[in-house]
Amino acid sequence: MLKPFKKWLGGTSEEATRSGLSGIDLNNVPEHVAIIMDGNGRWARQRGLPRVAGHHSGMKNVKKITMAANGLGIKALTMYAFSTENWKRPKEEVEFLMKLPQEFFPLEINELIANNVRIRMTGWSEGLPDYTLNAIEDAIERTKENDGLILNFALNYGSRKEMLSGVQDIIRDVQSGKLQAQELTEERFSQYLLTSDLPDPDLLIRTSGELRISNFLLWQLAYSELWFTEAYWPEFTEELFYQAIAEYQRRARRYGGV
Ligand code: FPP
Repeated sequence: MLKPFKKWLGGTSEEATRSGLSGIDLNNVPEHVAIIMDGNGRWARQRGLPRVAGHHSGMKNVKKITMAANGLGIKALTMYAFSTENWKRPKEEVEFLMKLPQEFFPLEINELIANNVRIRMTGWSEGLPDYTLNAIEDAIERTKENDGLILNFALNYGSRKEMLSGVQDIIRDVQSGKLQAQELTEERFSQYLLTSDLPDPDLLIRTSGELRISNFLLWQLAYSELWFTEAYWPEFTEELFYQAIAEYQRRARRYGGV
């Protein structure tokens, strides 16, 4: 998994410092990093461009940060691409966002495959246009044998909806006798969420200076370290990503203990 990173292990410390990697301990990288990719609209407005130009530029950044995460040996990267609340945006913007997967995957899939990346989605298929779903399902299918980084797109995702739906499934299972109410532990509850096959994120990154969680992985983020940057998503660099990882490694995770 650490293969793409090897050149830095053998490189000079000067090179490593320049690339922003010097402060990173490769034996202590987070397993799962989640990112709220915010600020596309403001990035575009700052440049006198339409908001969608920000989303387009943000899309290109997804590959760059995926490769950086892969190079560090991170196991899973969850990117918040579209929330259940984002349907409230103007029709043209929603349509543009929905078309991004059919541009992104044909463009990037070969490199993702070459780097052993597996595509995954967290969210509801219902409501997504066929062309969006087809692009994602095709990428999931084509990368299903890969066992490197999981690139997980949170698409048409909302955490409250996810938890309500989990609770409904739990009630159904209790009523049918499949589950006893007293057997419902935190681990068991996690199994009813859309992320049941992923570890909880160790680190959450949000770009653009907003200090909110925005209905993203509310249960799963209970003990995650949070890291915020003023940078808008399209200008979020590998160096900032490495800074976030290095800062994560400096934090003492106590999980409520001492
Ligand atoms: C939030 O910025 C960003 C989004 C709602 C979309 C994020 C999606 C991508 C970066 C592309 C994902 C790529 C694929 C392949 C699915 P904002 O529009 O809320 O920014 P603002 O707060 O400045 O207006």
